[in-house]
Amino acid sequence: MSGPKIVLVTGASSGIGRACAALLHEKSHIVYGTSRKAAAAGIPWRMLQLDVTSEQSVASAVARILDEQGRIDVVVNNAGLVMAGAIEDTSLDEARLQLDTNLFGAARVCRAVLPTMREKRSGLIINVGSLAGVVGLPFQGYYSASKFALEGFTEALRLEVAAFDVEATIVEPGDIATSVVQNRVRVAASGAASPYRAAFDKTVATFEKEETAGASPEVVARRVLSIIESGRPAVRYSVGPFGQRLLAGLKPFLPSRWFEFGLMIYYGLKRGG
Ligand SMILES: NC(=O)c1ccc[n+]([C@@H]2O[C@H](COP(=O)([O-])OP(=O)(O)OC[C@H]3O[C@@H](n4cnc5c(N)ncnc54)[C@H](OP(=O)(O)O)[C@@H]3O)[C@@H](O)[C@H]2O)c1
Repeated sequence: MSGPKIVLVTGASSGIGRACAALLHEKSHIVYGTSRKAAAAGIPWRMLQLDVTSEQSVASAVARILDEQGRIDVVVNNAGLVMAGAIEDTSLDEARLQLDTNLFGAARVCRAVLPTMREKRSGLIINVGSLAGVVGLPFQGYYSASKFALEGFTEALRLEVAAFDVEATIVEPGDIATSVVQNRVRVAASGAASPYRAAFDKTVATFEKEETAGASPEVVARRVLSIIESGRPAVRYSVGPFGQRLLAGLKPFLPSRWFEFGLMIYYGLKRGG
């Protein structure tokens, strides 16, 4: 469909989501951004309240857009939570929140928009994954698990919705300079008593350094715009710092132990004994 698209961008209050909403708005698309908080003043695109962990919240935001516009052409499933903690230190309730936000959050939005997309025989779902969904990151194990899961989810979704002319794809950013550093949630047991504390602190400090020096969120927004303009999207797109994309791309071709050894050196992790 040519002309302006009706676009829903979840998590548009900061970072990547905000950059996507701003660029798509600038390109004259009709953008509905979302946040769990009430809309801040001065945002020129529409903002709705939405918590992706609540089915009711997702349903009412989607219903509002359908009521006002009659369709949703594009969804950018961007809302996300970054949780840090050793797997042993992470309670299953904490792990559930991580997956509930990053995986089931996207699933809730997909389930809410797909009936209309199928009916209109048109629609595009862009899931925001991560290179941490290609390479498992230490002390962000459940974050990586959520983004690895989103990879399989997107591959399966594409196959299922193709018959209805609906498209799906996943964008995999490397480190991007957003509010992720301030918004990262440390699990409760990651404090001084954790047996992982020293390695955890060192690894998180490395993450923070890389995120702070990361690519601009506009890089992701430009990729999202090009996907929207491209017609038939590829399965996945990596985006962000070239070195990180190269390493993730090499992973299938390198012996797994070598790759893992490189990660251990990079994060300063040691084998005991
Ligand atoms: N920055 C990076 O280096 C990087 C790399 C790879 C992938 N990513 C992915 O990019 C996406 C955006 O992250 P970002 O870096 O832009 O982080 P950010 O600046 O912290 O933004 C996160 C956004 O998600 C929203 N959000 C969080 N929990 C939510 C929930 N339960 N319901 C609805 N919205 C929720 C936040 O909105 P409110 O708090 O206003 O509700 C905020 O707008 C995430 O999926 C993240 O995993 C980021």
